[in-house]
Amino acid sequence: MGAAHEGITISDLGQDDNPIVYANDGFARLTGYGVDEALGRNCRFLQGPDTDPAAVERLRNAVRQGEACTVDILNYRKDGSPFWNRLAITPVRGADGELTHFVGIQSDITARKNAEEKLARANRRMSQSLEAAAAIQRSLLPESMPQVPEVEFAWAFDPCDELAGDSLDVFRIDDEHIAMYVLDVVGHGVPAALLSVTLAQILSFSRRQSSLSGKGSFADRRLVASPKAAAERLNQLFPMNEESRQYFTLFYGVLHLPSRQLRYVAAGHPAPVLLPADASCRNLPVGGFPIGLARQPQYEERTVDLGPGDRLYLYTDGLIEAADEHGDEFGAKQLGEEIQRNRDLPLAASVEAIEATAKGWAEGQLHDDLSIMALEIARLGQGPGSPRPAPAGVDEDR
Ligand SMILES: Cc1cc2nc3c(=O)[nH]c(=O)nc-3n(C[C@H](O)[C@H](O)[C@H](O)COP(=O)(O)O)c2cc1C
Repeated sequence: MGAAHEGITISDLGQDDNPIVYANDGFARLTGYGVDEALGRNCRFLQGPDTDPAAVERLRNAVRQGEACTVDILNYRKDGSPFWNRLAITPVRGADGELTHFVGIQSDITARKNAEEKLARANRRMSQSLEAAAAIQRSLLPESMPQVPEVEFAWAFDPCDELAGDSLDVFRIDDEHIAMYVLDVVGHGVPAALLSVTLAQILSFSRRQSSLSGKGSFADRRLVASPKAAAERLNQLFPMNEESRQYFTLFYGVLHLPSRQLRYVAAGHPAPVLLPADASCRNLPVGGFPIGLARQPQYEERTVDLGPGDRLYLYTDGLIEAADEHGDEFGAKQLGEEIQRNRDLPLAASVEAIEATAKGWAEGQLHDDLSIMALEIARLGQGPGSPRPAPAGVDEDR
């Protein structure tokens, strides 16, 4: 005991005020008090102005009840300097079971405590920064939908961390065209979010058209209005490099309101689900490299003619890859069923229901960001969101 690095003390419960009857050299080194100065005193003399009364109370109760107890308590050395003492006290019983002494072991954990506090401060700072960054990212989401009688939009956005690699928006290009995109930067968290925020800034033409200028920038209306040109330009601007190793999938569509024709490019992006007003749902054809992955990819522009009452659901793979506790994914088939099941709900409610079902499937534990954007073409002579015909079964060849 004499050679131990820690302080070791023994107190005698048989004497008045439970004084120390043994202290080792470790105790003297730790506290700066000589062993002789400690003997005969209750060990509370190490406590001082900033000692937590709750820690003292725990010790008092343990001694009173004859129980073992460990506390981290602020103590003071003989020279007045404070130190963190991890104190463990253990009752000692005589042969007849009667409580006679307590053994105390004192360890200096000041360095560890300081490191913990520094870490906690750094964590708080980091959380605050992430929260602020998340607010910036949320501010880039569509505030309001284009108000046009021909079509209605709804969306959902669920980052799996504070920050997302997903982004989405819908905006008006001119009186006849509305552009929409959903994108997913590979990975998630801060690195993916940096690129996703940059892309949102560039792509959301309506928000920034006055501030952007320059050749081939996205202020150029022709670029925004052409999904193929937009995808190719983004591919030039954001090539994957050795450092970032980042690329992204993109669905970019432009809806021509008078003809209800949607032109789109799906660059490595999961296939959107089309729910016709009077038929079961099917996936739109997609194909092509994600943006940034290949040098000069050819992006195929496709078109789909939408009819009154038709709905289209765009999403990122976080939706269909939401996995339950066994690792089974929500999957495209279930998504199709879910879309059909909710076809009688108003568009926004159907998006909420699909989002809730996928999150429920994953028991709230998303491992990737999840985004959904949906649109509904107005029924003839009615606004969007009118009652829909009875649902049909899911197509087997989806
Ligand atoms: C063996 C033993 C060692 C102790 N060592 C310390 C110590 O190093 N530092 C300290 O603040 N309290 C120590 N205490 C706790 C105090 O002696 C005392 O029990 C505590 O302050 C609660 O009682 P009180 O409210 O009467 O002061 C020790 C107690 C025992 C039994």
